Formats: sequence, C-alpha cells, structure tokens
Amino acid sequence: MNEPRAASTSPTNGGGGLSRRKFFKLAGMAAAGGAAGLLVPRNLPAAGGRRLSAAIDDSFWKRVQKEFIIDPEVVYMNIGTTGAMPQQVLERYHEYNTLAATHPRTFESELGATFGLEAQRATLADQFGCNMDEICLSRNTTDGLDAIVYGLEFARGDEILITHHEHIGALSPLNVIQDRYGVQITPVEIPVLNAKNGRQFIKAFKKNISKRTKAILFSHITYKTGTRLPAKALCEMARENGLISIVDGAHCPGMIALDFHDMGCDFYAGPGHKWQCGPGCTGILYLRNHGGNLPRFWTQNSSTYTFAVQTCGNERGAFDIAYSLQYRGQLNIPAQLAMMDACNMWEEIGRENIEAYVCGLSSYLKRSLKKRFGGQGILFSPDVPELNSGLTSFNPFDDITDGGKIKEMVHHLDEAGYQVRYTNFLVGLNDPTDTYALRISTHLFHDKTHVDGLVTALYDTYTRMAG
Ligand SMILES: Cc1ncc(COP(=O)(O)O)c(C=O)c1O
Repeated sequence: MNEPRAASTSPTNGGGGLSRRKFFKLAGMAAAGGAAGLLVPRNLPAAGGRRLSAAIDDSFWKRVQKEFIIDPEVVYMNIGTTGAMPQQVLERYHEYNTLAATHPRTFESELGATFGLEAQRATLADQFGCNMDEICLSRNTTDGLDAIVYGLEFARGDEILITHHEHIGALSPLNVIQDRYGVQITPVEIPVLNAKNGRQFIKAFKKNISKRTKAILFSHITYKTGTRLPAKALCEMARENGLISIVDGAHCPGMIALDFHDMGCDFYAGPGHKWQCGPGCTGILYLRNHGGNLPRFWTQNSSTYTFAVQTCGNERGAFDIAYSLQYRGQLNIPAQLAMMDACNMWEEIGRENIEAYVCGLSSYLKRSLKKRFGGQGILFSPDVPELNSGLTSFNPFDDITDGGKIKEMVHHLDEAGYQVRYTNFLVGLNDPTDTYALRISTHLFHDKTHVDGLVTALYDTYTRMAG
C-alpha cells in the first residue's frame, strides 16, 4: 500500500508554518476558485481549464491517476457510493482543519462573516452554467433533495411522476409528503432491458401526465443500472406541460459536464463526495431563480429565511434562493473549501475531458464484458453514447433474480482485490421479484488494465461458481 505523501502541516505543530497570512491565501483561493495549480503547473506547461484538451494523452491521464492516494492493493470500483479525495485536496483539507483548530477566530473574523461562501457560489455558478443566486453547497444529494421536496408547495391530490428506479434519498421525502399531505407519487416504468435512446424515456413520462400532475422527479443517471436519462429533453417536456422538474444528480457532478441553464431544470441535487471526489458531507444544490414560472418555495433548514426571504414576502425571483439555503447554522467550512479545491482541480483537467475519459472507460468495460462472456449474462447499462455513464451493471448468471449468487460474487471479487457493489431493482414496474446485478464504477484513478483485471476476475469467479 502506498503511504500518503506527508501533508504539509501537522495538527500538533501549532500550524506548522502555516501562518495566518498563508491561510488567508489558501482559503481565499479555494473559495474564489483561484487555486489553479493543484494539478496543472506541477505537471504541464501553462494551460488551464477546458483549454487542456490539446495536451490530453495517455501520459496526462497517468499524471491525473497519480494524484490519487487510493490503496493500489485494492481496485476500488464503488465510486457510486463514495469517491476518494486526491492527495492535494486532502492536504488542503488538512490545512484548513489545522487552521480552524489553531486560529478558530480567524475563520469567523478574517474569512469574513460569510466565510467566503459568496465566492464559492460565484465559482460554482461559473463551473455549472448558472447564476450565483441559483447554486450553493449542500451536505449531499439527500440533503439537497430534502430541501427541494419539502420546500415546494404541494396539495392533497397533486401528483409527482418519478421513474421506477429512484433512490431512497429521493423516495423518503416524497413518501413524507405523500403521507403528510396526500400527494400521490406515481412511478413511471422506464426501459431497462431495451433502452436504446432518450426518446423512449420521454414517451414513458409523457403518457403518464394527467391534470393532477404537478412535477416530475428523475435520476439523471440511475443508481440501479447506470442508465443516463435525457435530462434536457425531460425538463423541456416538463416545461411544455407546466410541470416542475426535479433532478436527482447523485452520479453526475464530477463525472459528466453539467450546464444547468442549458439543461433547463428547475431543481438539481448532487453530491460533492462521489464522482467529484470532495470530502464527505458536501454537495451541490441548484435552484432555478430566473425566467418565468418560478414555483413557490418555502426555504427549509435555513438560518436566513427570516431576513433573506420573509422580508421579500417570499416572492420568487425577489430574493437570492441559493443564499437562503446557504446557511444551516454552523457549517463545515474546511470541507466546503476542500470541495472547492476538488472542483477547481476538475476544471483544470476539464470537465468534458473527464466525462469523455470516464464514459470511454465504462464503454470499454461494457464491450469487454460482452466479449469475455460471449453473450452470456445481461448488461443492464446501455452502451449507447447518449445513455452511457461511468456505472456498469451486469449479471452473468442465468437466473438474474438470484440475489444470493450476486452477493457471493461481490464477496469473491472483494477477495480478489476488486471492490464493487450490487444493486437490486424491478426490471418491469409490475415484476413480482427483484433482479440483481453487480454495479461497477470506473473513474479517473482507473485505466484499461484495471478494467481488464476486473473482467478476468469476474469471469474466473463466474466459471468457479457456475462449475
Ligand atoms: C440516485 C441516488 N440518489 C441519492 C443518493 C444519496 O446520495 P448522498 O449520499 O449524496 O446523499 C444516492 C446514493 O448513492 C443515489 O445513488
């Protein structure tokens, strides 16, 4: 196992040379997004952000891979659950924590009353294609979805359409408003075994819209099969039908490039700790605050409602909705600053470049599985560019409802040094039993050799178990 490179300060050395002055520079850079240099200057001649594409080749990705300290003895392929911080982000996180411990007053007084949160939102707005008053950091996807679902106004009999592959993080707040207010939650059956294009998903939703439908909620990429839904077209369909669009983006920030204005969604909740590889308890929350038909919203779990929203009579568009959700009492500022460092690092690599790398590797995995298993088993993740993602779900066995076999396989793969997880889901909405699949995540710290190794281990395990 690789030893992590020594962090530049130690918590026991009273700041270890990390003076208040240097701290201000660090914290200011992270907050404002000016921390360029996390990756590029050490490795490449001057280049930045999306301009890097010309310099992208295998050696570049090798350098990116080296930024991660993840245990090389284990091939970690469960980013869908949580990611891993790159070394430099971890070092910064440590430095921020050290400063918070050695100069607690500094955090409060010298970072400013707003802890640099405005600068963070300006940076995020720039990176995710929206305005500053529409984006803030949350604690994770679940936290963002809670803020959205509980913030919206629904009445008894209103209906929200969801896919039949949503995560409990979205289902839980939906079930609360179902039980509390009598809102009907209607699952729409989306294509699973026969997903070929985005139009199928639009059709599935469209035919379920009724007079009572008020909103749609869908995963941009489902956690069950890794299928990418046509978010822009679904949001357009919602708009045309006067519906609110809510997107669960748990598997998107840090994996695919996002432009919220281009997507046209009303609300989008994502994590910072999964594909974006920020610290735990960080997330990204988008709330449209411009254009027509802004839905009435009651800011929840916030310490600013009283003076930021109530003073405007809670009139949508009249207040900064992201600001209204930015403060939830005392925050984990070091984690937020480190999250911004991770975001800035991703910008340096180029978010389109990352998407191409991650989805390219995932497509390679899908093709390799098909080749190695010669048609045996079922690949639940479509290898179609518009539906592809960094998640791959596969079951090699004849009986795809046998959960015991898939769980055993996860265990054997773990013993062989490959960490993946399983998911279970209904293929058809009215199926009597769940189907099971292995779910494999491929990210920046992987390359084709990892994928080849996994496919071999998977095939060996399969032949042993089948024989
Ligand atoms: C689709 C989906 N939504 C929500 C969540 C919850 O994510 P978080 O841990 O960021 O709250 C997950 C977690 O894996 C997920 O897959």
